[in-house]
Amino acid sequence: MTEQMNSKKDWYKEMSFYQIWVRSFADGNGDGIGDLYGVYDKLEYVKSLGVDGIWFSPIYPSPNADYGYDISDYRDIHPDFGTLDQFKKVLNRAHELGMKVIMDLVVNHTSDEHPWFKESRKGRDNPYSDYYIWRDKPNNWDSLFEGKAWEYDSNRGQYYLHIFAKKQPDLNMDNPKVRQEVKDIMRFWLDMGVDGFREDVINFISKKEGLPNGVPFLPAVNGMPYYKDGPHIHEYLGEFRKVCNEYDCFQLGEGPMTTVRSAMKYLTGPTKSLDMMFSFDHMMADCLYTEYIHRPFSLVKLKKAFTKWQIALEGKGWNALYLENHDHPRIISRYGSEHFWRESGTMLAASYIFQKGTPFIYQGQEIGMTNIRLMSIDQYVDVSSITNYYTYHLREDPERRLHRIHLSSRDSARTPMQWNGSKNAGFSQSDPWFYVNPNYKRVNVETEEKDPDSILNFYRKCLQLRKNSAALLYGRYTEHFPKDNSIYMYERSLDDESYLIICSFSRLPVKPKKPEKFWGKHGELVLCNYAQSSLEDDRGFVAHLEKEIAELEHTKGYLRPYEVRVYRYRFSDDAAESGNAL
Ligand code: GLC
Ligand code: CA
Repeated sequence: MTEQMNSKKDWYKEMSFYQIWVRSFADGNGDGIGDLYGVYDKLEYVKSLGVDGIWFSPIYPSPNADYGYDISDYRDIHPDFGTLDQFKKVLNRAHELGMKVIMDLVVNHTSDEHPWFKESRKGRDNPYSDYYIWRDKPNNWDSLFEGKAWEYDSNRGQYYLHIFAKKQPDLNMDNPKVRQEVKDIMRFWLDMGVDGFREDVINFISKKEGLPNGVPFLPAVNGMPYYKDGPHIHEYLGEFRKVCNEYDCFQLGEGPMTTVRSAMKYLTGPTKSLDMMFSFDHMMADCLYTEYIHRPFSLVKLKKAFTKWQIALEGKGWNALYLENHDHPRIISRYGSEHFWRESGTMLAASYIFQKGTPFIYQGQEIGMTNIRLMSIDQYVDVSSITNYYTYHLREDPERRLHRIHLSSRDSARTPMQWNGSKNAGFSQSDPWFYVNPNYKRVNVETEEKDPDSILNFYRKCLQLRKNSAALLYGRYTEHFPKDNSIYMYERSLDDESYLIICSFSRLPVKPKKPEKFWGKHGELVLCNYAQSSLEDDRGFVAHLEKEIAELEHTKGYLRPYEVRVYRYRFSDDAAESGNAL
């Protein structure tokens, strides 16, 4: 790509990342828990996807109240996962394979078992007394994970603030010593050679002075106006940015509930402190604020969210693109269809990878893993799912409440990775720490490696196409027909080249319109998720239906269920006229 576009600071723009949640990725030492030995063995696989970097969800020592997001030591590796030396081996091998590695930096809170908190709770006059937020009287804030946001500590005789679980006390970022600790932790990992950080709930770290009472408008988030985008956030992040600037380092902030407007301050202009942000608007096309408050999926809502961010950041900032991570149920089960599993899994890939930004793929997403349905709430382990079940909709019958958990639980993203059709999906020789999705015989890496039309191979095709096209990397984003409620159509254009990405979100055949700009132009079909071979094999009902629809409609310009097509147009070519059909 051009010199200017690819300046050193912007290396992340042409990359794509793979997120590893180690506990469920691959068990290398046979104890049923994924670890860094397993990761090491799978690095070639990760590389084979065509990604350029790995983000590790927290792998530090942790009592696991929130599976690693409650850290008790920032400078070591959880013994379940291995040792610092094993991490260095993984890091070096990833670098040898040409992949960057970013770590999760979780500094809004620590574990209550972190030595700082153990000291802090002892009294008001030790060096760690002011590392956390202590009050004689709590305000009315709710926590996001476990009831009220304040917990009484009888040693100290005061309450501490926890925006998440009780075992996740919030750090007092107004204390310069705490900020110094954060900077030292960053240096520790940067000096070891890591390439950057994904910064957990980073827009929550500065709280409004006086911690005023919140106005309850939704359960759990009443205090949010006073801790989201707080008064000193840009000052504190500016300090962290300075550390990063000493290295060729990259910063990606997680911004729950962030709006485009507030994100601009983090991503552009004099307060720029992050290279990208994970926003959440597009994760709310089937729910209200959290997956637990479920709504029917709305494509128009999804498209609005996508386009809002694409347009706002055009020429000013850079988007982080994702549809899955360890915090959300699986995307096929939400925005696609488990029935049209391969079709919707592939279409969803193309619906976001070709947007302008850096794509992130979460482990298992690339093989189309779907939500798990457990029989009882006692089988779920995620703190937020358990709280939701016992706190809300208590008048509904238990089955209905369990269904809400099926739809919403973060545990669906945390089932063991499905490597093959053998025992425990090839994840471990022993009983895995958590349930394997029973669909592993059909949905697994080994099977999909062999099938040229698999979801896995489609992800590879998407990443390769993106990487080799200046228009898909840097071209302007335009959405067409935003009100259409079955098709998402977007364009990426640079100079005289345009890509038109047409995604059907419908189970029925639908006929897309052609945007005026392309009338009379012939586009080359460069990618499609319906290959000829997939119509000929025997996949029961779906294949049968596809075949019928294909025969009937294909030639007439209809899209088959969940079909995606990517066309390339070159405006300088004297291409054959093709009328207004696609
Ligand atoms: C982020 C993490 C999530 C965690 C929470 C509290 O949202 O992604 O897994 O529970 O922060 O650390
Ligand atoms: Ca293990």
